[in-house]
Amino acid sequence: MIKVAVSDLEYGKATEVFADAAGFECLRAPTPEAELAEFIRDNKIAYVIVGVDKYHDKLYEALPQGGVIARFGVGHDGIDKALARSKGIYCTNTPGVLDNSVAECAMGLILLAARHLAACVTDNKNSVWKNRVGTEVSGKNLAIIGGGNIGCKVAKIARAGFGMQTTVFDINEPKTTDNIDKVTTDFSDAVANADFVSVHIPDIPATKDFINMERLTMMKKSAVLINTARGNVLDEDSLYDAIENRIIAGAALDVFKSEPYIPQSPSRDLRALDCVIMTPHIGSSTVDACRSMAIAALRNIRMAVAGKTTQMDLIN
Ligand code: 8YV
Repeated sequence: MIKVAVSDLEYGKATEVFADAAGFECLRAPTPEAELAEFIRDNKIAYVIVGVDKYHDKLYEALPQGGVIARFGVGHDGIDKALARSKGIYCTNTPGVLDNSVAECAMGLILLAARHLAACVTDNKNSVWKNRVGTEVSGKNLAIIGGGNIGCKVAKIARAGFGMQTTVFDINEPKTTDNIDKVTTDFSDAVANADFVSVHIPDIPATKDFINMERLTMMKKSAVLINTARGNVLDEDSLYDAIENRIIAGAALDVFKSEPYIPQSPSRDLRALDCVIMTPHIGSSTVDACRSMAIAALRNIRMAVAGKTTQMDLIN
């Protein structure tokens, strides 16, 4: 049996996979780094599956050489890949299996914002019968920031499903040009006519606060920003100011600098703004994606155990 520590939230997201995985003994483990490291040492574990949390040092000290840190998910900003490599620890992720879920979530947030659906639901819960006039998304312009797998999936859903016009901004070639009306490396060009701007770039040093006041100012006053990527790519204080000063119209956010959300500045709490919709990082939280992420993470560990490192989804 291959013993694997699975961080608590991720175990809960795919319990039936982890509980029944043939050849594995998956142990539900604490998520915070110090406790997870202690758990790994106490149980003599070499393989760990983790979520989006940040792991700085203790985890790498606890795992042996040849061990695996397997991300249950695709973004790997929480893992110190260089430190892991220096200790002979493999790091993997699960590309491809959550694209539909995150893209559908982004599209859902676009629809929520366009039709004020979240506010309408809240009104009704509060016994308020109020008509709110929204906009159609059909024929509207969608700027997709980042032409990776998820960004391109959003383009497909938005264009083929909803008849939106799609523009992709990326400094690299997008994964595909299917369902993309225009590709540009010029951010201001991408957002100039956009009614909705959906962000799909990774959290790396070069993208920190990428959506800042300068870039928000390039958007239309009526634009709505959607972020299902990472909180760090958005300067939340600038977004607050941009909405307060009517530089853009609103935002729908699934990811934040601090999760659970804590305002970047106490005086700029995005929850206080009516035209900001916020969800608790649920982009990939579907039974479909969670099951697939669990299977993919376990597959990566199985490949490591078998010495088939070329077949792993290595990120370091
Ligand atoms: C998490 C994500 O992986 O894949 C990513 O990059 O942001 C998320 O989907 C997942 O929620 C961890 O449980």
